[in-house]
Amino acid sequence: MINNLDISDFLKNYWQKKPLIIRSAFPCYQSPVSADELAGLACEEFIESRIISENNTETKWQLEKGPFNESRFTTLPETNWTLLIQGLNKIFPEFDDLLHQFNFIPSWRVDDLMASYAAPGGSVGPHLDQYDVFLLQAQGTRKWMISEQAIEKDNFIENIPLKIIKDFTAESEWILEAGDMLYLPANVAHYGIGIENCMTFSVGFRAPSYADLISSFIDDQVTDIPDTMRYHDPELSADANPGEITPAAINNVQEILLSQLKDKSKVEDWFGRFITDYLNDNAYLEENSLSTNEFLSEFKINGYLRRPATVRANYLSNKNHTIHLYINGAQFKYRKNTEQVVKLFCNQHVIGFTNTEALVQEPNNLALLCELYNRGYLEFSDEQNKN
Ligand code: SIN
Ligand code: CO
Repeated sequence: MINNLDISDFLKNYWQKKPLIIRSAFPCYQSPVSADELAGLACEEFIESRIISENNTETKWQLEKGPFNESRFTTLPETNWTLLIQGLNKIFPEFDDLLHQFNFIPSWRVDDLMASYAAPGGSVGPHLDQYDVFLLQAQGTRKWMISEQAIEKDNFIENIPLKIIKDFTAESEWILEAGDMLYLPANVAHYGIGIENCMTFSVGFRAPSYADLISSFIDDQVTDIPDTMRYHDPELSADANPGEITPAAINNVQEILLSQLKDKSKVEDWFGRFITDYLNDNAYLEENSLSTNEFLSEFKINGYLRRPATVRANYLSNKNHTIHLYINGAQFKYRKNTEQVVKLFCNQHVIGFTNTEALVQEPNNLALLCELYNRGYLEFSDEQNKN
């Protein structure tokens, strides 16, 4: 639970509206990783990492992309650099548990957890993000300055590989200590500077662009449209202007485009697949082949089932007799009698045996949980959470 956060008040008055500072959101917070561990991760091929540093050269800001050699960390100066590591929730269950503290926002809106480690004076510069973010101070202190004023297009430093605001004037500022958290809606300019060696975790949210939504929907639909369905105009009348594209022709074309959107179930199924198909994470799945009896006894022995952070799952239940489950871009249809299992699987990332003992008495429910496990969408765990 997040301390000092009234969720209904937050959603009504702050979410996507205005910044909020939440003091002691996670009282006595202790980072599950050390600075050395972050540096170690930055040397790994499978991790997205960056170092941003500020110095007196002409371009002032430098961006280096990982993976880094270990030696890079011995040549860094005492001040003015930041190490950023993306997607930590996929590596450490502790971070996945932390991300699930934000489950008052639909899970498909949640992106990932990024850590930044800053030396004194370290910063990524004043900038805007296209998405909402919670910035949790995990260790040490950092000064955050923000401005809600619109930033002019020409107020960004030119010829550098980073989008940094040239003239930034802070309207509000706070010093954040471990456990404090700042919420920023998309497009609020912000500038965080490490006062001492410090660590910040960013919980970022996804906001698909209209362009991505529209092009994905069209790509998804076109494969099902037969080539024989073509523009036709049996009502054609004699026209004095053969060079004109008539309003009737435009109406015809608009009708063709709109006809693809009339069937709500097409929109539902495409969106379920689209929004759960993220970062090609299926490669990480480990398939199994337990029978339902074997599965049940393993579940009992371990105590918990955990949905790995690489498995994104959402459901749609407004269908008459079926519940639709979307997992990493795949689509499954189940009868409504397994609705409870589908909801549990999508709403929670950890399922406890003691809470589900009655549920799994029903063979359909047990079979579905076992199927999800065998497909690699669940793993056994002996702990509820790692916080
Ligand atoms: C940081 O933690 O240094 C950067 C995070 C952000 O500005 O979104
Ligand atoms: Co930012």
